Amino acid sequence: EDVEKGEYRHFMQKEIFEQPAAIQRTLQDRIDSPDAVSAAFGEPAMAIFDRVRSVQIVACGTSYHAGMVARYWLEALAGIPCQVEVASEFRYRQHVVPEGTLFVTISQSGETADTLAALRDTDSDNYVGRLAICNVDGSSLVRESELTFLTKAGPEIGVASTKAFTTQLAGLLMLVLALGRRHGLGDERIEQILAELRQLPNLLEQATALDKPIEDLSRAFVEKHHTLFLGRGVQFPVAMEGALKLKEISYIHAEAYPAGELKHGPLALVDKEMPVVAVAPNDDLLEKLKSNLQEVRARGGELYLFADKNAKVADGEGIHVLHLPAVPEIIAPIVYTVPLQLLSYHVAVLRGTDVDQPRNLAKSVTVE
Ligand code: G6P
Repeated sequence: EDVEKGEYRHFMQKEIFEQPAAIQRTLQDRIDSPDAVSAAFGEPAMAIFDRVRSVQIVACGTSYHAGMVARYWLEALAGIPCQVEVASEFRYRQHVVPEGTLFVTISQSGETADTLAALRDTDSDNYVGRLAICNVDGSSLVRESELTFLTKAGPEIGVASTKAFTTQLAGLLMLVLALGRRHGLGDERIEQILAELRQLPNLLEQATALDKPIEDLSRAFVEKHHTLFLGRGVQFPVAMEGALKLKEISYIHAEAYPAGELKHGPLALVDKEMPVVAVAPNDDLLEKLKSNLQEVRARGGELYLFADKNAKVADGEGIHVLHLPAVPEIIAPIVYTVPLQLLSYHVAVLRGTDVDQPRNLAKSVTVE
């Protein structure tokens, strides 16, 4: 893939807009049938997946957030217990490895020192296999894992990860389907989710088309010092990723909270100087989220809602709604990531930061 910026001002911007194509490539020839899904993880996958009773995911940064999303999917769809931990904690902590555990690393570069060290320390007999979900073929993680799923995002130059994240999510959902099939997830449901995955490039295209309204929204953040991101359920890690993007490239302090925890602390911080961003697709938790949002409004907080067009939330005093296309619930985290990336991007551009190479950060952290 072309590593020039072309018509774009920044690599990050280009990489955000490349996501429909990156997902298309990642799914290409891999989701034609349930068998194709398993085969995408490599030859030994069939035998190893049959023995999986639990999953341990280890990663850093944005890749860790992908793992957090996968946990919701894995437990809900496949009924398989799943732990997710940042590599720098996992590797230095005494942990229990349940029998039949699949060890999964997620990494754009495949060279992150902590993730690699965690992998090198998996000598317990209770592990049934090691799978790397990675964007770089031939990287250390790929070479040292018996199973590999290559995300085909193409080279990612912007330090803040975008297309690597969404392609990781696509790969992780495929993993959930492959494992779920062996744990009572019916063929009909699998086919239905595969059909939803096929809609992804198109839905991501629709999400990137919101660029202009998001740019308009971003002006409200430029002078702020703090921002709160809220989500519930599988959208909580999406909110975490949204907050991370804003911190990384705009240098605005951003925190993510599960919306139900708002009253246990962060509500004390809310006033008109602290914008609150909430991710509100049209799922079971929407009604609960709406009442959390009223708590924010009651304290004078300005709300920025990314909501499903059928979510029955409208603009109002202090409430700014950006409507997304109707998205099937399972793949919603992938689609809702895009407007949050665009929001950070535009805030950073308006603040004049070095978007592609934010201060103090590196694309790949290969030393501890
Ligand atoms: C650095 C990068 C992040 C990335 C993280 C993990 O912090 O700046 O964008 O998410 O490393 O990198 P990996 O290559 O393992 O996904």
